[in-house]
Amino acid sequence: MVRSKVIAIDGPAAAGKSTIAQKVAQMLGYIYIDTGAMYRAVTLKALNEKVDVTDEETIAKMLKNTTIRLTNDKKVFLDEVDVTDAIRQPIVSQNVSAVSAIRFVRDELKNRQIEYAKTDNVVMDGRDIGTNVLPNADYKIFMTASVDVRAKRRYDENLRRSIACDFETLKEEIELRDKLDSTREHSPLTKAEDAIVVDTSDLTIDEAVDAIINIVKKGGEV
Ligand code: CDP
Ligand code: CDP
Repeated sequence: MVRSKVIAIDGPAAAGKSTIAQKVAQMLGYIYIDTGAMYRAVTLKALNEKVDVTDEETIAKMLKNTTIRLTNDKKVFLDEVDVTDAIRQPIVSQNVSAVSAIRFVRDELKNRQIEYAKTDNVVMDGRDIGTNVLPNADYKIFMTASVDVRAKRRYDENLRRSIACDFETLKEEIELRDKLDSTREHSPLTKAEDAIVVDTSDLTIDEAVDAIINIVKKGGEV
């Protein structure tokens, strides 16, 4: 049996991972998996059910009875309800790092992510794909950008989605989330030793997509 191909893209918030990963997947005919959306969906369910986001036992029990379905056009279904927009709300962003620090949540979602990669060629983005979920990925990218550029991008995105926000507050929230994600005990955000860094600060979306396609064409070399 031919093993499916994996492109892992990790990095901090709003570096451009999901936008670029989706386009790369489209160009190569791969399936795109947004693992952040999975953590966001679990967080949304906990908030909806008024579960304390640090209550590991209740969240673990809840997750066992939760289905999360991702479609290739970036839609997210939580227990078969479309939550594509709901998971991007600031309240979810503010609570997701707590939920994603829970060991059971990480193990369970990792198992589901590995299943996707068993049958299909995938571009998977997140925080720990190249280091923990699929450490044998064919290509590993660590995508980053300066915090000011990332905050500005998320700010503009919020305006487009009519989500009210203040630039400085948003920047602080992004910095805090990066810190929590990078310092947690279980599978923190960190660059895999063999990952190639792509800094998108001065790249357009198309230039960043080209950079990744070139890495793939060259077989993982810069
Ligand atoms: O889109 P944005 O960069 O804001 O975040 P995301 O990719 O949607 O991820 C949301 C959160 O999920 C992150 O801040 C992490 O706390 C968590 N996450 C994770 O722990 N591991 C992953 N593989 C993906 C996301
Ligand atoms: O997935 P991640 O949080 O890393 O970032 P994203 O959600 O793909 O991108 C955040 C925002 O930045 C989106 O609105 C993208 O359209 C925008 N972006 C950009 O303007 N230029 C880039 N080179 C990459 C992303």
